[in-house]
Amino acid sequence: MSLPPGARADWTIDQGWERYTQAEHDVWITLYERQRALLPGRAADPFLRGLDALDLHRAGIPDFRRINEELNRLTGWTVVAVPGLVPDEVFFEHLANRRFPAGQFIRRPEQLDYLQEPDIFHDVFGHVPMLTDPTFADYMQAYGQGGLRALGLGQLHNLARLYWYTVEFGLLQTPAGLRIYGAGIVSSHAESIFALDDPSPNRLGFDLARVMRTPYRIDDFQQVYFVIPSLQALLDATLSDFGALYAYLSDAKDIAIEAVLPEDKVFTRGTQAYANRA
Ligand SMILES: [Fe+2]
Repeated sequence: MSLPPGARADWTIDQGWERYTQAEHDVWITLYERQRALLPGRAADPFLRGLDALDLHRAGIPDFRRINEELNRLTGWTVVAVPGLVPDEVFFEHLANRRFPAGQFIRRPEQLDYLQEPDIFHDVFGHVPMLTDPTFADYMQAYGQGGLRALGLGQLHNLARLYWYTVEFGLLQTPAGLRIYGAGIVSSHAESIFALDDPSPNRLGFDLARVMRTPYRIDDFQQVYFVIPSLQALLDATLSDFGALYAYLSDAKDIAIEAVLPEDKVFTRGTQAYANRA
């Protein structure tokens, strides 16, 4: 990947909020209203609190300058605009410094339900509310620091699975039942329902080494979701010694994506009917 024209050395660009068209703001409003109606009782409380704290529903696509005033006050994070996917090292460097790189473009009206590259709705609606939670904010920074170390050790492959199964597709156990906190789920209307209600996927207790041995799919709903008992437990797991873990993983085989192991804590043993459909 080479630095796109107009981007700064750290790959950031200006959001250019003044240049969004009304049609683009309308896409945000449509997506926002649909998810805001669906998510109470589904999304984790820290997510819903963050959504309200950042006031992301004002008249269209949020201006990063405005979000950052509140986000920075709450947890010291900021959102920075990038032209699209950035190299791993750049991504980790931003996270390690409490900056979240967000896509600046928004999907077209005919792409409301599916889009390959993360846009501003996925990145800002999906990711930024959780960054208002102090524990999750620390987790994301620790992940960035861990990513920089993993790059040097050639362990990115395993670490990426941790991000996938927590930051993107994580579930949280609460007294009221399972709740979504992963950005890939909360920003998707269909997966917000599938992840909690569908009998197809496995829902298993989070275990760091187990997660890092589990492949994932990027092209469809997940076949397995991992449930954390609390955000603090997730942060604590990340602060453990990954050196020993990487040594273990270098000899351990991948676990089949649909497998349920005897030692797994099983919330739901899925039918896998969706994944196995003709
Ligand atoms: Fe994401």
